[in-house]
Amino acid sequence: MQTVHSVAQVREYVRGWHNKGQTVGFVPTMGNLHDGHISLIREARARCDVVVVSIFVNPTQFGPNEDFDRYPRTLDADAAALVEAGTDLLFAPSVEEMYPLGQNQTWVDVDQLGDYLCGASREGHFRGVTTVVSKLLNIVQPDVAVFGEKDFQQLAILRRMCEELLFPVKIVGAATSRETDGLARSSRNGFLSDSERTLAPQLYAHLQQLKADIDAGERDYRALESRISQSLDTAGFSVDYLTIVSAKTLAPAGPQDTDLVAAVAAKLGSTRLIDNISLAVVRDR
Ligand code: PAF
Repeated sequence: MQTVHSVAQVREYVRGWHNKGQTVGFVPTMGNLHDGHISLIREARARCDVVVVSIFVNPTQFGPNEDFDRYPRTLDADAAALVEAGTDLLFAPSVEEMYPLGQNQTWVDVDQLGDYLCGASREGHFRGVTTVVSKLLNIVQPDVAVFGEKDFQQLAILRRMCEELLFPVKIVGAATSRETDGLARSSRNGFLSDSERTLAPQLYAHLQQLKADIDAGERDYRALESRISQSLDTAGFSVDYLTIVSAKTLAPAGPQDTDLVAAVAAKLGSTRLIDNISLAVVRDR
């Protein structure tokens, strides 16, 4: 695996591969890699001849009171895991390399899809994500880019962005990787204390309960959201949102929607966790 830090070097490698007719798969990350990231890399490997991974903790997607400074930076361990996973090129740029003119003035923003869920509580977050992913896609020019379904809203927004901006890339969503107790793998899990870690799987357990209720015929989505939210709060979480949305629009689901997702964000102590579960509803006739 080669490790490079400049945009020019990435472009040179990718030009060489494309000239030889090889396809390029890309997995953008913020590092602190775990098995969830490795499953994204495996997905890219299965679809493409070469795999590029980026590690960049992107300042523009963190709000002023969020965890940019304490976000774990573990480049040496990450590089070792990437070699093991069969990565060809690691791109690990500095902030100056990605934002060469300092304070950014050019933004990519996706309107409606960014208004719901995490977009409502993390102002500017998705604008930072779409801007940096546009830059990364422009630098790497991959044939395929892989993102995790755990960040369901991010995936929906990035699909929309690539379609609307006509990026020549196929966006692939990879299934959420989970610990054996059901907790979705996330770099933020490392912030949890022992007692919080014991409680954390309750988040997915509550989503499974919600799905079971819907499968059993519950159709009052707002009542179900508030029942499951309250149960999470009682268990020790501080729920930011728990919403049943249309998978297509991300707006709160109504009786006409059939393809739904229940998405949750909740804090345990100072650590914010997110998860989701997809729900297929057969409409009553
Ligand atoms: O999902 C992430 O880790 C980040 O949001 C991404 C896509 C790498 C952009 O910084």
